[in-house]
Amino acid sequence: MESLQTQYLSQVGDEHRKQYAQFFTPRPIADFMRNWVLAGNARQELFDPAFGLGAFFEKAQDDLLVQGMEIDSQALDFYLSHTKKTRTALVHANYLLNYGLRHSNIICNPPYLKFQKFDQKEAVLDGFQKHFGISLSGYTNIASAFLVKSIFELADGGRLAYIMPPEFLNAGYGRQVKELLIQRRHLSHILQLSCEQEAFPDATTSLCILLYDSAKLFSRVRFHSVSALSQLAEIIDAEPVAEIPYERLQAGDKWGNYFKAEIHGQQFQSKYLVPLSTYGHFSRGIATGANEFFVLRKSDIARLSLQSSDYSGCITKSAQIQQPVFTQKNFEALAGDDAPVFLLNAVKTISPAAWEYIRFGEREGYNQRYITRNRTPWYKMEKRASAPIMLNVFSRNGYKAVRNYSTVQSLTPFHCFYPNLFGAGIIDLLFLYLHSHTGHSILASSVRKYGNELEKFEPNDLNHSLVPSDEFFAQIPENKAGSLMRRLTNGERVDSEIDELFASLLYNA
Ligand SMILES: C[S@@+](CC[C@H](N)C(=O)[O-])C[C@H]1O[C@@H](n2cnc3c(N)ncnc32)[C@H](O)[C@@H]1O
Repeated sequence: MESLQTQYLSQVGDEHRKQYAQFFTPRPIADFMRNWVLAGNARQELFDPAFGLGAFFEKAQDDLLVQGMEIDSQALDFYLSHTKKTRTALVHANYLLNYGLRHSNIICNPPYLKFQKFDQKEAVLDGFQKHFGISLSGYTNIASAFLVKSIFELADGGRLAYIMPPEFLNAGYGRQVKELLIQRRHLSHILQLSCEQEAFPDATTSLCILLYDSAKLFSRVRFHSVSALSQLAEIIDAEPVAEIPYERLQAGDKWGNYFKAEIHGQQFQSKYLVPLSTYGHFSRGIATGANEFFVLRKSDIARLSLQSSDYSGCITKSAQIQQPVFTQKNFEALAGDDAPVFLLNAVKTISPAAWEYIRFGEREGYNQRYITRNRTPWYKMEKRASAPIMLNVFSRNGYKAVRNYSTVQSLTPFHCFYPNLFGAGIIDLLFLYLHSHTGHSILASSVRKYGNELEKFEPNDLNHSLVPSDEFFAQIPENKAGSLMRRLTNGERVDSEIDELFASLLYNA
């Protein structure tokens, strides 16, 4: 077959191959997927909607019915003129526009192409709407569209094995696919192949394999990481990197995080980790639209004769918080040093002095800035409670997590954590984790890196980042967090004790 592929490729040339995204599945992967699918039920039929040169069928037993669809007549003709298989049902058609068939079993390595570039995009979108009631995102890629369609066309009791580009697990366009997978509960395994070069020597791509069995309803999805093709034979029964119960799977979460991630030579135990969004969410700090006008010092307040109802305490710069715990006393010290830690926050009762200052702002044109001119009234600040945990947006040598006991708000240099019902009781534990060496290592996989070693978190990066599960937190003795927090607040050095609490989440590779 190797030589058949080579023969075919030299016949059609690179441009043709690129146009149809023709990358052929290597034998060990094709054999593994076919064997898994056919072990599922008695019907010896297998359909490949992106047939190519029939890689999945090459080593199949002779009585297997070879079913497939292929858009490229050259590939199909080439296959037909070389195969010795007699039971074939192959159709020359565009899979995404062809409806009406159900398949006992499906196997596929779909083309990795962007949907935006697909000529018949509108017709495909209409078809999905009409036949499945799904309005597919225009940003999806063709591989996801193939998968969704195949899930709808799989007969009851059949199995499906699909190769997918792993980005769909994390990217926004993967959401619809993940929603469908969660709804159906037939997905049993996702295998991530990190042996990329070995798997696709001719393409710089990585892949994952989805195993889906419509004969069963699963309670959890098993995430496996495969580092050598030889592991495939045993993978189904091997210990997974993570087993995530369906109740905990969220379509909006980055499922790619469930695979063992390598961080500085270490790996983390994802089975004890959940997305931070389980406990609440981070949001951006307040954006004033004109800090020069809204941010005030104590001396400004005195000079302008503002009343206490005209302003509130607010962290306005990352450097204002140096220590991991921030108290009301720390805030008062900043205010006493005349640091810019107040925000004009005139809401209900606006004093005459504040009115005067607002009019001054209008004369200076602060009401015409991008944010202010889109706000009514232009000087009204977003209403935000002070957050019990804050984390700086930009950093160079690792982020700074702050346990905030003061009543101050924060501007955009810090993201602010607001707990939900599940997070309200574990604030200290969550903070200690974020502060720990382990938390830093694990969150490093969510950070965006810019030039000059600058690192940045978006609020959603943090919301998707991994933090300990309830079960993990529950094994920490009850009074431990409180006592560590007290000692940390008193300026004691307790970092190594904090690290010990979470060290077991990391282990050496
Ligand atoms: C990644 S290759 C996989 C080929 C083969 N199944 C294998 O595993 O080696 C994808 C195949 O899908 C075909 N294809 C691309 N778009 C298609 C479409 N809309 N409908 C059917 N086949 C398509 C390509 O021509 C190509 O042969």
